[in-house]
Amino acid sequence: MAYTANPDRYNNMNYAPCGHSGLQLPRVALGFWQNFGTNTDPATIKDLCFTAMDCGITYFDLANNYGPEPGSAERNLGKLLRTDLKPYRDELIISTKAGHPMWPGPYGNWGSRKHLFASLDQSLERLGLDYVDIFYHHRMDPNTPLEETVDALCDIVKQGKALYIGLSKYDAAHLEQASRMLEERHCPFVVCQNRYNMLDRTIETNGTKDTIYKKEKGLVAFSPLARGALSGRYLNGIPNASYAARNHDFAKSLTDDRLAQLSCLNAVAAERGQTLAQMALSWVLRDNVVTSVLIGASTPEQIRENAAVASQSHHFSDVEVFSIDDILDLPHTL
Ligand SMILES: NC(=O)c1ccc[n+]([C@@H]2O[C@H](COP(=O)([O-])OP(=O)(O)OC[C@H]3O[C@@H](n4cnc5c(N)ncnc54)[C@H](OP(=O)(O)O)[C@@H]3O)[C@@H](O)[C@H]2O)c1
Repeated sequence: MAYTANPDRYNNMNYAPCGHSGLQLPRVALGFWQNFGTNTDPATIKDLCFTAMDCGITYFDLANNYGPEPGSAERNLGKLLRTDLKPYRDELIISTKAGHPMWPGPYGNWGSRKHLFASLDQSLERLGLDYVDIFYHHRMDPNTPLEETVDALCDIVKQGKALYIGLSKYDAAHLEQASRMLEERHCPFVVCQNRYNMLDRTIETNGTKDTIYKKEKGLVAFSPLARGALSGRYLNGIPNASYAARNHDFAKSLTDDRLAQLSCLNAVAAERGQTLAQMALSWVLRDNVVTSVLIGASTPEQIRENAAVASQSHHFSDVEVFSIDDILDLPHTL
């Protein structure tokens, strides 16, 4: 049976402007990095996408290389965009990225004009779209002159292949430079994508978050749950169908000390009337520079639990903020 979206979906989500722009993004967005490739059956992918839609999640985040295998996440979403999701195209923000290895040879990676144009054309083909809403340069390129990357991004917008531009994993200095160049060229650069969560505060300490704020861009925070560590998932051991069960290094990071910290965080979350995952998402959203938290999910229940955060309070008292810092043995921040 054809999918019909929940008519109340827009009452279930809050939307925020992405920096100084007219683009509104849902406070909770869905990423397609790990669970939308050939490793997941099509019925589950449908279920995850439709659940997200029904929760009012309008932003689906992809990259050329998401899968596994590379390209398969775009191909799988493309099948839905050609069928069940076709009537909803104008309600959706579809992003993709280029800049990580995609095909062998000198043009399959990084930030050259040659790579960005070829990769985006391939992505549009897989997605079955004429344009994406946001096209991100996926990571800084130490060898290509920044002017070349910036000019290519501007030309991609001029050709109508992307509506807005984003930069992913740029540090403060490169962000400052790229932002100036993109502004000079009147390019609609509106969003930065960086890792940010209670356990990883690099963008707070290295000046990136302040630069995003100063430049009036939106921050879309990825890995807000630290791959699921900041949820109730591992409080009683490692479940079979979990990321930790599949990834040895991640499982090793869940030391006894870390698990003890997570239990204490879970108690703080319960005091707030939230699950640990919800508190972790609210903690990221508490700063207005953050437009959206970009979640991954392997079940519809995870999406529902996480999407509910959009209508919860993102206010933290000083006592809550300091006690979270103390539990994690980190310097006090506000
Ligand atoms: N720009 C970049 O370079 C970059 C890098 C990384 C990610 N991203 C984007 O950010 C998105 C999210 O990244 P991420 O997957 O690292 O995010 P995350 O939200 O930190 O982790 C997602 C994982 O946490 C678990 N989870 C989610 N909700 C849960 C809940 N309520 N309770 C228990 N467990 C829960 C699931 O793992 P299980 O599989 O164990 O169920 C899920 O796959 C990606 O899909 C991608 O779009 C971008």
